[in-house]
Amino acid sequence: MLNKKIILSSLLIAMISVAGIASAKVKLIKTTDGTEFTIPKEGLKGTPAEEEFLKTGKNIYVGDAEAEKRGKKRFGYWSCTQCHGPTAKGQVGPGLVGPTFKYPKDITNQGMFETIWWGTNGGMGGKGFGVMAADDGLSVDELLKIIAWVRTQGSQGVTGNEEDQMKKFLKN
Ligand code: HEC
Repeated sequence: MLNKKIILSSLLIAMISVAGIASAKVKLIKTTDGTEFTIPKEGLKGTPAEEEFLKTGKNIYVGDAEAEKRGKKRFGYWSCTQCHGPTAKGQVGPGLVGPTFKYPKDITNQGMFETIWWGTNGGMGGKGFGVMAADDGLSVDELLKIIAWVRTQGSQGVTGNEEDQMKKFLKN
């Protein structure tokens, strides 16, 4: 009887936590002031990569050669090249390949996304839709592709997705 109760209640807890995870959303935090921001619907294309990112903070385009190729093009279209160099290793602006970053959270894909979407206080304007101009800016999908390509340029295997790896780099 007691066992049955314990099993039932742990089952219930397990079910609640699965439901909790399924509906969980990442909180996006501005690099400028640490407050939360949300994505306007015009900034979304409705791709599975966007859905996964907004749910878990993971970038499924990392390691996807086709997406990375598109990301490289977007890196040029949006003038990232002019400040960060054609291989993202730095020019006027800093290098983006890590493993150390001015904003340490940029080792994670969510952190780098937050920095680029909303910008920084040190000379990097936000590039996300609606941040700089009300009717212009990167979509979530484009930015995920850009980040996926940036990750290919490093020599230390930074993907921004694996938890252990992030912990390893963040400790240093
Ligand atoms: C006009 C020049 C300029 C352009 C264009 C620009 N950046 Fe930057 N970026 C900077 C500067 C300057 C910094 C350093 C900001 C700071 O210290 O706060 C920076 C910082 C960053 C960082 C944080 C790096 C770190 O060490 O934490 C990332 C990531 C980044 N930029 C990505 C991009 C991407 C992607 C694009 C294109 C969509 C882009 N930038 C376009 C100038 C630029």
